[in-house]
Amino acid sequence: MKILFCDSYNHTDTLVVLNIKEKKNINPLKSFPNILKNLNLTGSHNEKSTLVNIDGFSKIHILGAGKLQKKQSLRNIGGKIYDISKNDKSIQVSVAGLSKQDIAQIAYGLILGSYSFTKYKTVKNESAKLDKVSFVGENSSEAKKCFDNLNCIAQGVFLARDLVNEPANVLTPEKFVETAKGLSKLGVKVKILNEDELKKLGMNALLAVGQGSANKSYVAIMEYMGAKESENPFVFVGKGVTFDAGGISLKPSGGMEDMKFDMGGASAVIGAMKAISLRKAKANVIGVLGLVENMPDGLAQRPGDVVASMSGQTIEVINTDAEGRMVLADCLTYVQKKYKPRSIIDLATLTGAMMVALGQEYAGVFGNNDELKQNIIKAGDSEVEGLWPMPMSKAYNKEINSNIADMKNTGSKWGGACTAAAFLGRFINDGTSWAHLDIAGMAWEYKGKPTTPKGGVGFGVRTLDRLVWDWERSVK
Ligand code: BES
Ligand code: MN
Ligand code: ZN
Repeated sequence: MKILFCDSYNHTDTLVVLNIKEKKNINPLKSFPNILKNLNLTGSHNEKSTLVNIDGFSKIHILGAGKLQKKQSLRNIGGKIYDISKNDKSIQVSVAGLSKQDIAQIAYGLILGSYSFTKYKTVKNESAKLDKVSFVGENSSEAKKCFDNLNCIAQGVFLARDLVNEPANVLTPEKFVETAKGLSKLGVKVKILNEDELKKLGMNALLAVGQGSANKSYVAIMEYMGAKESENPFVFVGKGVTFDAGGISLKPSGGMEDMKFDMGGASAVIGAMKAISLRKAKANVIGVLGLVENMPDGLAQRPGDVVASMSGQTIEVINTDAEGRMVLADCLTYVQKKYKPRSIIDLATLTGAMMVALGQEYAGVFGNNDELKQNIIKAGDSEVEGLWPMPMSKAYNKEINSNIADMKNTGSKWGGACTAAAFLGRFINDGTSWAHLDIAGMAWEYKGKPTTPKGGVGFGVRTLDRLVWDWERSVK
């Protein structure tokens, strides 16, 4: 979609006017007195009307915008503008009186809300026609700069959404690797480890998960160096289970199709790498993806197996469906051996227990460093991605002691998100700052929201980007 910023109206395009209830006396509708005369509007949320042949415009949509005070209300109105006008080919939105930041936020919301995944629809006539949006107002041309930056982030979110929506017969670990390689044209150095190399490195926990799949396992490493070489990098690690059937501990069939989104963590990481490199961030950021498929097969790992992880610690596999932590464990070891991270943040659709605890409102944030946790939560707040602190304690850690190996891959019946985090914590060296985001409830949107259509959310892209952005500002 083309987004333009201009300062005059074009009378042939449909016009969208916002009716704002309370924003320091600013209301674009005031420029159209005939509309006010003709209609009895309150400006409250979701009030919609469409007029034809008025004030020289062939068609005008008027959208009640409520109070438009918070950032998310601006973004939501962007999403609603898209919704009301998606069947017009080309629209102009009156943003008279609004600040450049507010205009950019509305445009950002519109872009995020306009996303759709129609690749597999052979009949496209239901899909939206809108392909050009012009924002018209005195601060519009100024808004362009703010928007250009936000649009980089939206492109990262879209990549993540596309990957999450893509079915697992198409998006195999190998295909994911191809997508990662695509970032090299943005100045990201991409390195791929195949099964032979993973074996040599001793990443047996990750390989054990993939051994029941006909699709080969990979680790993809993306390096973006936007700051001095000496500056320690942020390291992001993503769980990329392209399909989680559970393995021999097979999942029940009801809802199993959802498990194509079990690479939501890896999508967030690659999406963030795209956003960060597109906006040419002045920071060093490494993204690492553990890409495997968890399937039952004659070669699949079994409950009771013991595997030696790259760290040297042994794992007794109690449940092959607790696979994400095994994939992450080796990736976490790898990044600590290879880099000197400023901090490590892993993202994973790790446990159903996380969804039981926080539903679809917040992802849980675990970790060993309060400052890092706070910075992540703050970054999430700024970007309206819900994140909530979760506990790490010795008691959870004790639950994963094994009788025959160093640890087992599941805890007891309760606190599954916390015992999973404790498991990951065993792979973090003393003194390394680390956080784990369990995004199980956040990767998929079931209902549809103004800036998040149904399907893959791309959750985490904006928080990771914002964390880096905040850091860039703090060292300036
Ligand atoms: N990918 C799932 C977690 C998940 C479940 C995410 C539902 C989103 C929705 C993970 O690999 C898994 O299967 N976890 C098990 C762990 C258990 C066997 C200890 C779970 O949560 O049931
Ligand atoms: Mn699983
Ligand atoms: Zn999983």
